[in-house]
Amino acid sequence: TTIGSGLGLTLYSTATLADWTVNLTPGVTDVSRSVFDLHMTIFWICVAIALVVFGVMFWSIFHHRKSRGAQAHHFHENTLVEVIWTLIPIVILVAMAIPATATLVDMYDTDEAELDIQITGYQWKWRYDYLDHDLTFFSNLSTPREQISNEADKQEHYLLEVDRHLVLPVDTRIRFLLTSNDVIHSWWVPALAVKKDAIPGFINDAWTVINEPGIYRGQCAELCGKDHGFMPVVVEAVSRAEFQQWLADARAAEQAEAAAAERVWTLDELMQQGEQVYLRACAACHLPNGEGVPGAFPALKGSAITLGDVGAHIDIVLNGKSGTAMQAFRDQLSATELAAVITYERNAWGNSLGEAVSPAQ
Ligand code: CUA
Repeated sequence: TTIGSGLGLTLYSTATLADWTVNLTPGVTDVSRSVFDLHMTIFWICVAIALVVFGVMFWSIFHHRKSRGAQAHHFHENTLVEVIWTLIPIVILVAMAIPATATLVDMYDTDEAELDIQITGYQWKWRYDYLDHDLTFFSNLSTPREQISNEADKQEHYLLEVDRHLVLPVDTRIRFLLTSNDVIHSWWVPALAVKKDAIPGFINDAWTVINEPGIYRGQCAELCGKDHGFMPVVVEAVSRAEFQQWLADARAAEQAEAAAAERVWTLDELMQQGEQVYLRACAACHLPNGEGVPGAFPALKGSAITLGDVGAHIDIVLNGKSGTAMQAFRDQLSATELAAVITYERNAWGNSLGEAVSPAQ
C-alpha cells in the first residue's frame, strides 16, 4: 500500500483514499464551517507573514551582501523599530483572537438542546442512549477485527463499518453527553467538528445542528488499547420525519426481540446466533477461535470457564471480572443473546457438545 500501515489504519476508517485530503473538512454544521473559515483565514495570515519574512531574508542573503559592497548597519535601542515590531504582532493576534473566541463560546454553549444523546465508550465500541426516547444500543464493528486486518492488507480502500449507525435528525439542536465505561476514549466526527473525550466518571458535553442529510464517519481519537484503531463512529443524518419513523421501527424491533426470547430455541439456532454474538462481543480479545492472546487475554477453548459450572460462566459474562479487562455485558446483551453466546462458547470448540443454555437461566 502507498500509505504505511500505521497511518493507514487511521485513514481506513475516516475516508477512502479517493476523497482523501490533507486539509480540514468544511463539514456540515455552522460550527464546523466557522472552524474551517477560521482555519483558512489564519492559514493565509501565516502565509502572508511567511512571504514577507522569508522574502526579506532571501533578498538580504542574495542581494545585500558584503561581496556586492553592502555595509552592515550597526544600531540598537531604536524605539521606533521596537514599537513597530511589538504593535504589528499585537494587531495580528487580536484580529485572530476575536473571531476564534466567538466560535469557542458558541461551541461550548450546550444549552437548549432538542435531543439528548448519551455516548459511552467501551473497549472497543460505542453505546448510544437516546435519553428522551427510551432507546439504547451498541454500535459494534460489523466485521470481526481479525478479518479486517486481513482484508486491509489486501485492499487499501477498506472502510470500517458498524452494525448500527447513530441515526440523528437534521436541523435539530442535539446535545451529546459523553462518558466511558472503562478507559478514556474520544468521540470524533470531523464533518460535525465534534471531538470530545469520553472519560470514566465524568460527563463531557458537546452539541451540533447537522445541516445536511448524509453518512458522516469518524473514529475514537484517544489511544484506548489494542483495538483503538477499530472503533469507528458512523453518524447517519436523516430528515426529521425519517428520524421519527426510524425511532418507531427501532422500538418495534426491540419488542420483537423481547418476544423472540419467550419461545424455545433449538441448539442449532442458539449456536448460530451465539457465533454472531461471540464474533461481535468476545472475539476482539479472546479471538474467533477462542484461543485468546497469551499474556493479555485468556483462552476460552478448554478453559475452566467454558468447561466448568454454567452459573459461574454466566456470572462472569454478566458482571465482568474486576481487576481485568473483562467488562460486564449485563446491559449489552439480551437474554437470548446471552444464552446463545454461552451455549456457543461451551460447544464451539468441542468443550461440551450438545449443551443448550436457556434464556430463562
Ligand atoms: Cu476508544 Cu481509542
